[in-house]
Amino acid sequence: MTLAVCAALALTSACGKDEGTEVKGPDPDRGRRLYIATCIVCHNTDPSKPGSQGPPIKGSSLELLEAKVLHKRYPPGYKPQRNTKAMPTYPQLRKRIADVAAYLAQP
Ligand code: HEC
Repeated sequence: MTLAVCAALALTSACGKDEGTEVKGPDPDRGRRLYIATCIVCHNTDPSKPGSQGPPIKGSSLELLEAKVLHKRYPPGYKPQRNTKAMPTYPQLRKRIADVAAYLAQP
């Protein structure tokens, strides 16, 4: 039953775990490289630990990352770990935030 539905929806890529039909899927490896290049000045190379300036951010949601990294904000209702506003924005990462989220979501 599920299979039939997926087969039917495959044409619209609605059932895809495989990213073959996606133009660009989130790439945790690219996310890791971006994290190393941009974030570890302040966050820890191990994102589950506090860094020199920033808090641990492992597991941060895409929503949180977009708000914080692009707009210096937090999602509605989110309780920030810190009350400071020291972190700059990184608008050049706009199209790559999903990669960073994929990396930070890794176990
Ligand atoms: C210049 C230092 C600096 C850099 C570089 C930096 N951050 Fe931060 N980050 C901070 C600080 C400090 C905070 C604590 C809040 C504040 O002061 O803005 C923070 C907070 C965060 C938070 C919110 C955590 C929470 O749960 O409250 C996220 C998410 C985050 N950083 C992600 C990133 C990502 C992803 C990058 C790389 C693209 C990055 N940061 C680069 C300093 C930095």
